Parts: sequence; structure tokens; C-alpha cells
Amino acid sequence: MRRKIVAGNWKMNLDYQQGISLFSEIINMVKDEVRGDQHVVVCSPFIHLHAISQLAKGHPRVSTGAQNCYAEAAGAYTGEISAAQVTSTGATYVILGHSERRIYFGEDGYLLSKKVDLALKSGLSPIFCVGETLEERESDQYFDVIRQQLEAGVFHLSNEAFKNIILAYEPVWAIGTGLTASPQQAQEVHAFIRNEIAAHYNQEVADSTSVLYGGSCNPGNAPDLFSQADIDGGLIGGASLKSRDFVEIVKVYNA
Ligand code: 13P
Repeated sequence: MRRKIVAGNWKMNLDYQQGISLFSEIINMVKDEVRGDQHVVVCSPFIHLHAISQLAKGHPRVSTGAQNCYAEAAGAYTGEISAAQVTSTGATYVILGHSERRIYFGEDGYLLSKKVDLALKSGLSPIFCVGETLEERESDQYFDVIRQQLEAGVFHLSNEAFKNIILAYEPVWAIGTGLTASPQQAQEVHAFIRNEIAAHYNQEVADSTSVLYGGSCNPGNAPDLFSQADIDGGLIGGASLKSRDFVEIVKVYNA
């Protein structure tokens, strides 16, 4: 019904040569492992995108993506990269709304909605991240926070446009901390997200949207997380930098 996606987010790691060699390993190890409705996405720094997209050619279930793009189409924005420039590398996905961008770079809902629009216009599928801080979880505000992030970032889209969105629930307190949301905690939020989509669009759109979990996901905890009814894969940070760990996570769907 909906695609199972394991996406790697390399963040600001790996020089050019290290990135090419990691991606080559990943392609060789996963090419016979991904089948049916499974999909693997590697979101690298911009410098690797064209080369790894070339390496992914001929592997229809392996795609590449950026980790950001700018909220304007082109022009005098020194140092920024547009969605159309990302598309020109051969990449087909872009992570938007990651908490590291929200927190360190002050990206808010309005800016993110502009990025989402431009990404879609350029033919990219946004992997749109939502998630609460520890304080917001402990004060029971997490449903409200996630609803607001969805409303500001993606719920302005039409039914048709929304079908190109992948969502990722990444609790901020679980990112890079070794603390993972329990399968029950994650499932509770994933079900909430799916209900919000159904309420805003309809059940068919909700049932066909892939919602990934991210936050200290590794080969040990991925099987329990991915077996939850509303978890459709993972957005993997640290463990995506080791080919063996990343491929173990990809293989969870074959077990
Ligand atoms: P970690 O897997 O390193 O916790 O990172 C998760 C993440 O932020 C993926 O986007």
C-alpha cells in the first residue's frame, strides 16, 4: 500500500572520496536486497550528489537526495543551493525541516513551506521532518507541536502535491543521543500523524503516505520499530555512515 523506505542522512560528514567509497559499498551490498515496495535513499552533502547519483543509475530502488535547499529559485544568494540545482545532479529527494536546520539555522514553518513548494516544483520529493524536544515531550505538548509543524510546513499543499511528500518523525531528544523512542512511543506519534493527514486530506492519502522514524535507529532496534503498523521505515543518521549497519537496517524488511 505504501513504500517502505530506509533513508540515510550523512549530515556534514565524509570528504568527497570517503563519500564515494561509502556509497559504492552500499550500492554493492543493497542492490540485490531491495525489492517490491522497498526503497533506499542516501542523502549526502551537496558535494557528493552528482557522483553518487551516477552510481545509482540502473538501480531503480536506490535514490539520492540532498539535506537542504534554499527557499528562492535562483539569484544572488551566495553560498546557497536551489532545488533546481539539486535536481540537475540527478538527486530526487531532499530532507526539509530537520531539527538541526530548525534549531541551528532558525528555519521556521513559513520558510520551510516555501522550500517545500520549490522542491516539488523542481520534481524533488521532500522528506519533511517533524518532532518535539524533550521539554515538549515531558510537558505533554508533543501532539500540538507536531500538528503545528505539519500545518505550517506541508498542509497547505493540494491532495495531488501532498502525495509526493514523505514524512519523518524525529524526536529531537532521540537524535544522536543513543536514546531511541520506544516502538510504542514512536507508533503513538506515527498513528497521530496519519490521523492528522486523514483529517486534513482523506484516508486514502493518509494510507499512502510513508512516515519514517528517525533518532538513534540502529540494526538492533530497527526490527521492533519497523514492525509497528504506522512506521514505514527509517531516517538514519549515525548508522548510515557505516555500510554494514545501514545495510542491516535495509535488510530488516527482508527478514
Ligand atoms: P541519528 O540516527 O544519528 O540519531 O540521527 C537521526 C537523524 O537526525 C536523521 O535525520
